[in-house]
Amino acid sequence: MICLLTIALRYRLAGTHQRKAGACADGEAAIMHAHTMFTWLTRHRRATRRLPMPTQTSDEGHRYFFISNDQSEVLRLNLQHFMFAREFGSDRAVPAQVMPQPIELLDVACGTGFWAIQQAKELAPLGANIVGFDKQLPSAATSGERPDNCLLIAGDALECFPFGDASFSYVMMRACSAFVPRDHWPIFLREAARVTRPGGFVEVRDFGVVVSESQAMTTLTRIFTQLADRVGIYPGAGPHLRTIFNAAGFNSPRIMTRQVRFGRPRGTPGGALMVTDYLAVLKRVIVPISQSGIIWDHVPITATRWENLLVEAEADSQEGKKTAVQLTCALARRVA
Ligand SMILES: C[S@@+](CC[C@H](N)C(=O)[O-])C[C@H]1O[C@@H](n2cnc3c(N)ncnc32)[C@H](O)[C@@H]1O
Repeated sequence: MICLLTIALRYRLAGTHQRKAGACADGEAAIMHAHTMFTWLTRHRRATRRLPMPTQTSDEGHRYFFISNDQSEVLRLNLQHFMFAREFGSDRAVPAQVMPQPIELLDVACGTGFWAIQQAKELAPLGANIVGFDKQLPSAATSGERPDNCLLIAGDALECFPFGDASFSYVMMRACSAFVPRDHWPIFLREAARVTRPGGFVEVRDFGVVVSESQAMTTLTRIFTQLADRVGIYPGAGPHLRTIFNAAGFNSPRIMTRQVRFGRPRGTPGGALMVTDYLAVLKRVIVPISQSGIIWDHVPITATRWENLLVEAEADSQEGKKTAVQLTCALARRVA
């Protein structure tokens, strides 16, 4: 408890409960579920800054298909975690030793909280604290699996992040394409820069577009890409990260890519995880796809056609047909 209160004080948690769309309350206290716990610690400061809001909000629904509130999504996200780790060989691109002290990490849209918890365990001997926030409060926030140096809270990453300026030595934003509108990405990155201390780091890991030998998988991907287009998000922001970092004012981000490959004769270490994860994503979007009115082969795509394509794609994968996707990791340092 004392540890949580220390973390809250240090990051000057900013409340979201009174926030209007687009307003940034930089310093109001207490956050969602932690509201009562932290209220007495707060100092109320007026909002001094306004955060531009995304213009592409016509289909609010799309943001919620990947919210980690059911068991299958928890499993999928944890599996995806290992896929990123296996392909990049680590969970983050920056050794803790080069981060500004004290070591404090933020995980934006932290999903299940798995990454944050792993980091908290790994970096505990260095006295590090980790904070993760997500639109949906991760179940790990209240379960026994969360170590004392890890705080998981609810918060909206499309608003002003609920933390004071220069609070963290390192910020991770992984697999956020599904909820960040295309034109909001530079704003999203600028928020990350704001909460990062000078000398600290911002890292983004994301996907590209899947390519496959399987005709069914290719069709699913083309339709999925059309859906992403319609709702104004990237099907995977990976290939755009250099441009986005530049637009957000970061100088020369370091870009690392990995080609994740599945299929015979041999894939990469995360290949099988990638295909399982991707098929689960495609299953998850069945409702928006069937309601989208997207025309494929002169006929609107229905839930049944989508399901049939999924069955075919799954069978093709079991036969060992090749599927690949590029992962991108972009890293930049906040200079001043
Ligand atoms: C694909 S998951 C990635 C989770 C995590 N970063 C990871 O790599 O495992 C996307 C996450 O974004 C969260 N999310 C969706 N909209 C959000 C928002 N507006 N603010 C914060 N989190 C959001 C979802 O709840 C989900 O946990």
